[in-house]
Amino acid sequence: MERFPEGTLSYGLYILTACENGIPFGCIVNVAFQVTASPVKIAVSCSRDNFTHDKIKSCGAFGLTVLSESVDPALIRLFGFKSGRTVDKFEGIRWEKGEKTGVPILPEKGMTVLECRVTNAFDAGTHTLFVGEVENGKITDPSAKEITYRYYHKVLKGIAPKNAPTYTGKAHLKQP
Ligand SMILES: Cc1cc2nc3c(=O)[nH]c(=O)nc-3n(C[C@H](O)[C@H](O)[C@H](O)COP(=O)(O)O)c2cc1C
Repeated sequence: MERFPEGTLSYGLYILTACENGIPFGCIVNVAFQVTASPVKIAVSCSRDNFTHDKIKSCGAFGLTVLSESVDPALIRLFGFKSGRTVDKFEGIRWEKGEKTGVPILPEKGMTVLECRVTNAFDAGTHTLFVGEVENGKITDPSAKEITYRYYHKVLKGIAPKNAPTYTGKAHLKQP
């Protein structure tokens, strides 16, 4: 199958982060999910072309900031359409170093933040499926509603670029 029909599966939206020598890196992902309960493990699908991919590999951990419906679309444009290779995405943004792994987390930008230690990395072709054990996490905005990928498309009129696993070939459209 060349293209998976849009809207078939449901997802959220997250900022996936890693660091190298204390410098923070990160990008938007929609493919993140819990894989086991004991211990709690999370999987993320990250494109090999994303700079964040290399940073997760080198630091062996990743952070996940769960975005809510009140997310500023400019944050998605910055983290989802620009690369840390050329832009310092964290400039002017308040972030914290995770207590357990040192990965960047953005409590003020999301509703929940998690720190995960990579336990497995599965080669999925264009993407690597990183599985990580959650070592630390906190809910920073209990009243917020998590954003779904559908909400991002339908309400915020957002699109996804080529490196998103759910890319539908519409990246040429203008991002609102
Ligand atoms: C809505 C949305 C969803 C995305 N989902 C993913 C994803 O699940 N996995 C992925 O590898 N990239 C995904 N991306 C693409 C990356 O965020 C994008 O390639 C980013 O520019 C990479 O930045 P980096 O090079 O600094 O890591 C998504 C982008 C957007 C806007």
